[in-house]
Amino acid sequence: MEIAARGFLVTGGASGLGRACAEALARRGGRVVLVDRDAQAGAVAAASLGSAARFVEGDVTDTAAVQRAVDLARSEFGGLWGALNCAGILAGARVVGRKAPHDLELFMRVVHVNLVGTFNVVRLAAAAMVGNPPNHEGERGVIVNTASIAAWEGQIGQAAYAASKAGVAGMTLPLARDLAEHGIRVVAIAPGAFATPMMAALSAELQSSLESQIPFPSRMGKPAEFAALAMHVLENPMLNGSVIRIDGGLRMGPR
Ligand SMILES: NC(=O)c1ccc[n+]([C@@H]2O[C@H](COP(=O)([O-])OP(=O)(O)OC[C@H]3O[C@@H](n4cnc5c(N)ncnc54)[C@H](O)[C@@H]3O)[C@@H](O)[C@H]2O)c1
Repeated sequence: MEIAARGFLVTGGASGLGRACAEALARRGGRVVLVDRDAQAGAVAAASLGSAARFVEGDVTDTAAVQRAVDLARSEFGGLWGALNCAGILAGARVVGRKAPHDLELFMRVVHVNLVGTFNVVRLAAAAMVGNPPNHEGERGVIVNTASIAAWEGQIGQAAYAASKAGVAGMTLPLARDLAEHGIRVVAIAPGAFATPMMAALSAELQSSLESQIPFPSRMGKPAEFAALAMHVLENPMLNGSVIRIDGGLRMGPR
């Protein structure tokens, strides 16, 4: 699907991988509605893209906020053709901690944001895309979700995060099958370790352990490299129903 002059929605657009996607879309002439719960960073990110971007403060699990963003893409940019789900949270806790078992509330929060929030955006974005006039390939929209290689190789302390990302990976094919009749493609990208504020929040020890496990290139991925893949997914009509790893060959060990 062509990116230029079309409207897109990027969740988590205030930071890291989402912000890099918003920048890549704008560079290709796309128009972007950024959705993020961080009002300050979201406003800064949108302002840096000028007239190509708008910002909606909101939580991806909040139907009214996501609908506002979808409506804005249609009213300001003439339609919603792509949704890139990059909002997410990382939390680490052992199943049996030193003082207590894993906080159930924490487990539910991670699954709620990463999996339920992603699905919330998928369903509302797809409902809007269904009304688009198909392009020459019959495409009405493309949805790119962000899983993680933790979906298969979750480390110690990552039960909640890995479960949420396995959910994102697992729903990719049924979403693609479900939306095929409308000409909407769905792909998930599973990043390894990328240099973003989320990663920077981990201990230096954990970061260098991860880096040392990456065969080549033995460094964190750059957000622009993730964005380059997301742009390719948007542009290549044969990509559908798959989960694509981008990880420098990293297969995470238990810690
Ligand atoms: N950085 C990595 O190495 C890595 C690896 C694998 C997967 N991922 C996934 O990539 C995605 C982006 O991560 P990142 O590294 O850019 O993180 P980040 O923390 O830099 O950015 C995430 C953004 O999402 C926003 N956000 C969080 N919860 C939200 C919610 N409920 N509603 C709206 N916005 C919300 C945050 O405010 C933030 O701006 C996440 O889903 C993350 O799990 C990242």
